[in-house]
Amino acid sequence: MPVLKTIHVLGAIFLLGGVSTHVLLRPMAARAADVAQHALYQFAWRVQLALVYTGSALVLITGLLMWIGRFKLFTGWLLLGFLLYVAAAGLDGAFLAPNLRRARGATGEGSAPVAAAAVTIQLVAWLLLVVVVFLMVAQPF
Ligand code: HEM
Repeated sequence: MPVLKTIHVLGAIFLLGGVSTHVLLRPMAARAADVAQHALYQFAWRVQLALVYTGSALVLITGLLMWIGRFKLFTGWLLLGFLLYVAAAGLDGAFLAPNLRRARGATGEGSAPVAAAAVTIQLVAWLLLVVVVFLMVAQPF
């Protein structure tokens, strides 16, 4: 259905747009001085709520509806795409989002090694989603 697919792709734009913003913001925020750092983490949290969570919900709901409606359960690219989406959501829920929530509340982010780990893990989550886009578009197996 074109409506579902349109919403799905919009959700993907929100989600990947938000995660790409985080990839750019986190290294800047980690190096910024106090007041600027606080403002950058506040903005990152807004991006998390408005783009990442919204996009993630849209993509999940419409994706599952299209899967049930039109494709077999054991469709390779869908299974792998879903798995990689779950992996990215797991990284976000277990580490990245709590890290942002703490950072935007506190003055100063806390320990530098944690901020450095967050930069790397953020990049991994982004790469997982890029692979999902490839799987969805190419539908290779
Ligand atoms: C939650 C798991 C997901 C499921 C179950 C799912 C399911 C689907 C299905 C069934 C289609 C095929 C629609 C069709 O060809 O008629 C599709 C297309 C697409 N999906 Fe997903 N999806 C998921 C997550 C994602 C994510 C995380 C992204 C990107 C961030 C994404 C991006 C796309 C794009 C761009 C298309 C359009 C591909 C094209 O028509 O060329 N999806 N998805």
